[in-house]
Amino acid sequence: MTGHLTSHYEKPAEMYDGLRLHQNENTAGCSPRVLEALARLTRENIGFYPPYSVATDAAARYFGVTADRVTLVNGLDEGIMGAAIAYLRPSAGSGVVPEAIVPEPAFEIFRFDTAVAGGRLVQVMPKPDFEFALDEVLAAITPATRIVFITNPNNPTGVPVPFEAIRTIAKRIPKEAIVFVDEAYAEFAGRSFIPELPAFPNVVVGRTFSKAFGLAAIRIGAMVGAPEVLDPIRYVVPVYSVNIAAVVALQAALSDIDYLNDYLRQVRESKALVYAACDRLRLKYWPSDANFILVRVGDRVGEIVEAAKARGVFLRNRSSEPGCEGCLRMGTGVVEHTKRGIAVLEEALCAAR
Ligand SMILES: Cc1ncc(COP(=O)(O)O)c(C=O)c1O
Repeated sequence: MTGHLTSHYEKPAEMYDGLRLHQNENTAGCSPRVLEALARLTRENIGFYPPYSVATDAAARYFGVTADRVTLVNGLDEGIMGAAIAYLRPSAGSGVVPEAIVPEPAFEIFRFDTAVAGGRLVQVMPKPDFEFALDEVLAAITPATRIVFITNPNNPTGVPVPFEAIRTIAKRIPKEAIVFVDEAYAEFAGRSFIPELPAFPNVVVGRTFSKAFGLAAIRIGAMVGAPEVLDPIRYVVPVYSVNIAAVVALQAALSDIDYLNDYLRQVRESKALVYAACDRLRLKYWPSDANFILVRVGDRVGEIVEAAKARGVFLRNRSSEPGCEGCLRMGTGVVEHTKRGIAVLEEALCAAR
């Protein structure tokens, strides 16, 4: 399926007066060390343009790469937009409309950024149980392909993508193209494509510190890859888009790996609780490698999400995404929050019956 999307991205409504299980955030928030670091900022720190190198080095150490392979961005969203503009903007006189392949269901920003950049969206529709549609993605590659967007583990499904599929796609795309592997949820999966990047220099990995590290409001992410594939993205990202609060928060967050590990442990426990609840309630779900679970609650999904909201728990209706009919997505982080989410989901299911 191909097409242009002209409508804009609709941000989720600003709902802060309740339990936010709808945006895959760390609902415990960031490490206390982050607040301490922010409190140490001086007036001069705020008055000067921010230095990036120490934070870039810290991120590079965390990813196990050299600093020339990392570009910090103002949230991974900015990195995705940068990649879209760098690789999907039609160049004057070439006659080629660059194409982005998006295996669905996908993080919806890929569609919008493709449209904003002026590229053509090529959607690959899902297979049963969201098994990665490798043959279909390969069949969608053309000489005009410039980006294949893959999220691993995927959002909204939590389903992992086999590395072999990424390798195969990377070998088959045109030489001007990249595979963009969005690893927003990689900490929860415990797996990353980053160690493979030297062998696959046309792959760029996107990471965020919004999720596992609880820095969503600070806006800090990273693009990891070979300098020559990152350079076109660096050219389009504004010069000082990462601010000083993000610079110090990132270093503080990366210094507190115990805090990260505790959250990862809670995510595992939370997912087990939700699986057990779904089994008991006879709801279909997909085992997730992320910090959320996609659950099929049926035709009344809209009512169920509203009933949960009325009880102070925000869930995300994903039923309009390809293959996700009747589905909602629930964050599975802090165990206490998950228990409340499950109780409210049960009440909402009854209320909507
Ligand atoms: C797959 C995926 N990529 C990127 C992002 C955005 O990350 P950031 O907060 O760093 O912009 C999200 C956030 O929901 C996401 O789910």
